[in-house]
Amino acid sequence: MLDLLKKRRSIRRYKPVPLLRDEMERLVAMALLSPSSRGRQPWEFIMVTDPGMLDKLSISKPHSASFLRGAALGVVIIGDPGISDVWVEDTSIAATLVHLAATSMDLGSCWIQIRGRKHSPDETAGDYIKGLLDIPDRFEVEAIMAVGYPDEVKAPHSEEKLPYEKAHLERFGTPWKG
Ligand SMILES: Cc1cc2nc3c(=O)[nH]c(=O)nc-3n(C[C@H](O)[C@H](O)[C@H](O)COP(=O)(O)O)c2cc1C
Repeated sequence: MLDLLKKRRSIRRYKPVPLLRDEMERLVAMALLSPSSRGRQPWEFIMVTDPGMLDKLSISKPHSASFLRGAALGVVIIGDPGISDVWVEDTSIAATLVHLAATSMDLGSCWIQIRGRKHSPDETAGDYIKGLLDIPDRFEVEAIMAVGYPDEVKAPHSEEKLPYEKAHLERFGTPWKG
């Protein structure tokens, strides 16, 4: 697990190759295995592979989403606040697991934040996406995970450079690493 976490990087360049059906099956299964508060599973996942739709989703917000155009898959992660008041946590855990699951399969992936972002001055990124994908009104869009075969290499994170000053022992201010 430590090795997987060190290897995990945000990959934003992808080869123009579709994913295998089996790879997507595994990603869906792993997403659906996400833990959720009280087991309420307020999340749902929309697997988008249509290049025309990925193009439209890549302009969900003005910045930091354009690379979705080159991805093989966008996993749109939505949550129902009517099912759980902690849907943000639940959907975020699921997004993280999709990111790690992709890493474990040697796929590149990157989180695209949607909740709290604007598509235009008059429309939220979430409402724009709900219109594109026929998502019922009761849902909120948390994020899109872009996934594809990596076309960039990033060095893994190194254990030596971890911000250990953020880890405390017993109480705030006592360094974990003395
Ligand atoms: C909650 C969250 C939102 C993020 N939103 C975006 C985003 O909208 N666009 C993007 O390109 N990267 C996004 N990222 C990826 C971060 O920029 C990335 O994790 C960070 O720069 C560290 O790089 P690393 O993932 O390679 O370690 C997001 C990551 C998280 C956890």
